[in-house]
Amino acid sequence: MIQLYHVHMDYGPDSPALVDVTMRIGKAEFVFITGASGAGKTSLLRLIMLAEHCDAGQVLIFGRNVSRIRHSEIPSLRRRMGVVFQDFKLLPSRTVGENVAIGLEVLGRPRREIRSRTLEVLRLVGLEHKVRAYPPRLSGGEQQRVAIARALINDPPILLADEPTGNLDADLSQDIDSLLADINARGTTVLVATHDQGWVDRTQRRAIRLERGRVASGGIA
Ligand SMILES: Nc1ncnc2c1ncn2[C@@H]1O[C@H](COP(=O)(O)OP(=O)(O)OP(=O)(O)O)[C@@H](O)[C@H]1O
Ligand SMILES: [Mg+2]
Repeated sequence: MIQLYHVHMDYGPDSPALVDVTMRIGKAEFVFITGASGAGKTSLLRLIMLAEHCDAGQVLIFGRNVSRIRHSEIPSLRRRMGVVFQDFKLLPSRTVGENVAIGLEVLGRPRREIRSRTLEVLRLVGLEHKVRAYPPRLSGGEQQRVAIARALINDPPILLADEPTGNLDADLSQDIDSLLADINARGTTVLVATHDQGWVDRTQRRAIRLERGRVASGGIA
């Protein structure tokens, strides 16, 4: 599903973000990306979601070598990856339903399909009743679940989440963990970046540990 071979990425001559990173993540795996602040977790996710490109090495997503795909193919490849950002990035003046539907709206799908799919993913995250609410009126955990629903609207084979429990207390973090586990059980490859080592330790899941941009452990399952 996701393969990186000897990947280097930097933001400038003296600021390497990823150094000689090699990893393989298979279909329907649930994998944590761990490491201290600045270790390169977000950079790695941005590389995988095609928001950055590497300066050396190879990145393969869905078996495709990213450096060889045509520019015109990037949007469709990107749509096959749902992304959840740490700060949610919900539009405050749009309803929950409108926020979640965006990924189908841009494709110009029929109204009826958008509506039924929006309710379906909101049901999955347990927020069907909030479809007409506005994000600022929701709790942090609810907003995070809306962000997850939005990421799932196109039924992507890969879900990338950056610190999805970063702003939440222990109970809500547990809810998000269960939700991500459910999504994974339905066959979605889930990749979660977190510095919460306690969360990683409580589960039996695979973890890839980054240290100053390098893979310290877990790169190859
Ligand atoms: N836009 C940028 N420009 C320059 N350097 C950056 C940029 N973004 C990140 N970096 C640097 O790249 C390195 C990796 O950052 P990254 O954001 O990937 O770390 P992280 O593991 O996600 O950290 P955190 O846990 O704090 O979110 C850090 O040294 C950081 O300072
Ligand atoms: Mg980060």
